[in-house]
Amino acid sequence: MSIIRINGGKRLIGSVSVHGAKNSVLPIMAASLLACGETIIHNCPDLSDVEAAIRILVHLGCTVSRDRDSVCIDSRHLSRSDIPHELMREMRSSVIFLGAILSRLGEAVLSMPGGCELGPRPIDLHLSALRAMGAEITEEGGNITCKAPSLTGCRINLSFPSVGATENAMLAASGCSGTTVITNAACEPEIWDLQCYLKKLGVNVYGAGTSIITVDGRGKMTDNQHRVIPDRIVAATYLACAASAGGSIELTGVNPEHVTTVTEVLAEMGCRIATGTDTIQITADGPRKAVRPIITKPYPGFPTDAQPPIMAVSLTAEGTTVFVENIFENRFRHVAELQRLGADIKTEGRVAIVSGVKKLYGAPITSTDLRGGAALVVAALGAEGTTEITDRGHIDRGYDNIVGVLRSLGADIKRYD
Ligand code: UD1
Repeated sequence: MSIIRINGGKRLIGSVSVHGAKNSVLPIMAASLLACGETIIHNCPDLSDVEAAIRILVHLGCTVSRDRDSVCIDSRHLSRSDIPHELMREMRSSVIFLGAILSRLGEAVLSMPGGCELGPRPIDLHLSALRAMGAEITEEGGNITCKAPSLTGCRINLSFPSVGATENAMLAASGCSGTTVITNAACEPEIWDLQCYLKKLGVNVYGAGTSIITVDGRGKMTDNQHRVIPDRIVAATYLACAASAGGSIELTGVNPEHVTTVTEVLAEMGCRIATGTDTIQITADGPRKAVRPIITKPYPGFPTDAQPPIMAVSLTAEGTTVFVENIFENRFRHVAELQRLGADIKTEGRVAIVSGVKKLYGAPITSTDLRGGAALVVAALGAEGTTEITDRGHIDRGYDNIVGVLRSLGADIKRYD
């Protein structure tokens, strides 16, 4: 557990290099099981979720080493096909290993990932995709056992464009004989990044970034290297920090196209945004204004992961901002904590209505989940007085050294473990 203490009201000035995307690196680490050789992943952030993924790979028999932001995974010799409960519960998204283990070893036993802080997180779409390819799946005693001595390519129509189910289907299909066509696939940039990595393994896969992805059988797996794309949610969060605290910061090593929906909202709020090829500059002076309803949707819609940090910016905007959360049913847990800072927010089911207040005031608060925790940091930076955020490891799951980064921008922020 740690406490992050923030004395708000310090303008942020300077430059931040945005680290690699957590949501890219995790499926790519799972995909490295298909390489039967050595994968070096560059731009790999130092996050507790990445550490949890490394522990899973080592448990399965991989040799893993890390040199700064490069992680080297040797998956030649796998000794097991199971992921026990202790490792599964460390990271909600560890179900992403299912398709890769099954594809490589013909069987996989995982403990059920269970619910999570964002509400129930079912995996029915993952399982029905694998069943369609010929996997026999039994769910018993909290374990999922999948068996498929050989998987066969097929047509998979996802009833919702789930990111994780799309990735699991792509991973399983990469070891299949025949062609798999995934329709209503998720279009997130991280899916495209996974496709780029799979191509390096010799998998004939195309269509990522659109709703139809085709995976054409098994490739010739080889040693390879891959640089993951920048983390668009981390980028959105630092932009939100500047919008809340005021000041002017530049993000480098970012893909501005991946955060357009967020930068558009911040511009509408009154921030000045300037983008370059791989930079975004934000200048936040003067009052912010409420904006049109912010409705979370699958990519390219407004990302659910950016909803909490942007809500934190809206708390002191002039007027009323409506948030509609369409992806996760329990994604307003940060609201009660933001209210402790003086925010005026009313929630009804999937809708939150924020009426801007003149000021927020520092108070002791507790992070409830990864992006909710980030929202508390964003709000505290703009609040008057001292905020102490108690964090049980949520924020470190997705932000590499957030305290150091914000301090380098001039924030008065400290962490006590
Ligand atoms: C991924 C991201 C997460 C992001 C989310 C939505 C990773 C590691 N995590 O999570 O940061 O917030 O996408 O952009 O990439 N669902 C089902 N059945 C399933 C699978 C999903 O009903 O089998 C539902 C979920 O409960 C949720 C919605 O679909 O309501 C979206 O989930 P999904 O896109 O799968 O998110 P994740 O892959 O878990």
